[in-house]
Amino acid sequence: MEKYIIRGGKPLYGSVDISGAKNAAVAIIPAALMVDGVCRLENIPQISDADMLLTILEHLGARVKMINKNTMEIDCTHVRYTDAPYDLMRKIRASYYLIGAMLGRFGAAKTTMPGGCNFGVRPIDQHIKGMTALGAEVEVAGGFVYAETQDGRLHGSRIYLDKVSVGATMNIIIAASMAKGRTIIENAAREPHIVDLANFLNSMGADVRGAGTDTVKINGVDSLHGGTYTIIPDQIEAGTYMAAAAAAGGEVRIGNVIPRHLESITAKLREMGVTVIEGEDSIIVRRSGPIRRINVKTMPYPGFPTDMQPQIVSALCLANGTSVITEGVFDNRYKYVNELRKMGAQIQVDGRTAVIEGIEKYSGAPVAACDLRAGAAMVIAGLCAEGETQVEDVHYIERGYENFVGKLRGLGADIVYVSDPDEPEQTLKNVNIG
Ligand code: UD1
Repeated sequence: MEKYIIRGGKPLYGSVDISGAKNAAVAIIPAALMVDGVCRLENIPQISDADMLLTILEHLGARVKMINKNTMEIDCTHVRYTDAPYDLMRKIRASYYLIGAMLGRFGAAKTTMPGGCNFGVRPIDQHIKGMTALGAEVEVAGGFVYAETQDGRLHGSRIYLDKVSVGATMNIIIAASMAKGRTIIENAAREPHIVDLANFLNSMGADVRGAGTDTVKINGVDSLHGGTYTIIPDQIEAGTYMAAAAAAGGEVRIGNVIPRHLESITAKLREMGVTVIEGEDSIIVRRSGPIRRINVKTMPYPGFPTDMQPQIVSALCLANGTSVITEGVFDNRYKYVNELRKMGAQIQVDGRTAVIEGIEKYSGAPVAACDLRAGAAMVIAGLCAEGETQVEDVHYIERGYENFVGKLRGLGADIVYVSDPDEPEQTLKNVNIG
């Protein structure tokens, strides 16, 4: 069984560099399916979600060449229309981007319903609404999604999203970039990874305008050509180290970030009494005094990200007073709270609201990572806890954090990865990589 063992209670000191953005990479890799020629992607994070998508592309006939651990060349010139490999597809949420990319490239797609973290019901009705508006006939049956166009090509259209959906916005951008004519997406999501996807597509010859605003206009092109693209740094990975430094105390310099993407996190940490100093492409987080209680509501960008909710909760459990968290994006994103309670956290959940009574200290305990960000929250709690914390199911964490253990060890944390619980120190992983 794979787990992390953490001996907590040490503040974090030092410097950590942020990897490429997971949620940009997991859209850009499938979008590369539409490119005729070699796509050189730099700053791909070394995480299992990206690996799975690269394997799916290979299954479809792409040639993937690893240049170094974060740079890949993907050549989709000879891809063929075939079913995507279901076992991999159903494991990741981002496999839904294959629907848009296959429709764009082949005019047809057959995929599984996407998997990914379970935050309650995660429908894809807005993706389907978009593909249907672009002229595809879409059917969902038996866990599969079938989509087909009449004449082998999508046709531009005007689409109003009923929900501000990151996935639907990006999927429609991908599909529409090779549709015939103009597509307008209204009430689009505005996350940094949406801008990154648009920049990637544009650098391959697409014509996507307005990404980062709530109206995105796409003039479809007949083909996309090869090129080189560097993925932006990961907002949530950076935010996780910010929360870790705030919770554990100490002083951490977080490098390779875009501070503007971190503004909502920076603002909340400052309210908590944490010092945050913004540089050009780095940020310093320092805490020596007590953590002040605050209220947080998660919202689509530029609001406070739902993907930072568990990590900020983990830090606020140690605040001096009562904090109220409102989850504004997902219905059921508090499952991990039970695990934090095992470490002494005092949290009451009612629907989308969590009320946290600050405690003085966590006590180490065996806990599980319920999902990717919840797993990060467990690690943060473990770093602050008295005694030993064992975090199980770390495969969730490794879906989205490159070299998490190694980076934390670089900040002085006492954390090891073990695959055999009987011999912890002999199976160190991720320690001196990158
Ligand atoms: C993406 C991210 C995830 C992040 C989330 C919100 C990826 C692979 N995942 O997930 O890390 O937490 O954005 O920033 O990039 N909804 C519908 N119908 C749809 C689509 C979404 O009702 O067709 C709802 C969802 O249930 C949710 C809300 O809209 O309540 C936002 O979801 P969305 O932004 O689409 O999240 P994901 O793309 O699933």
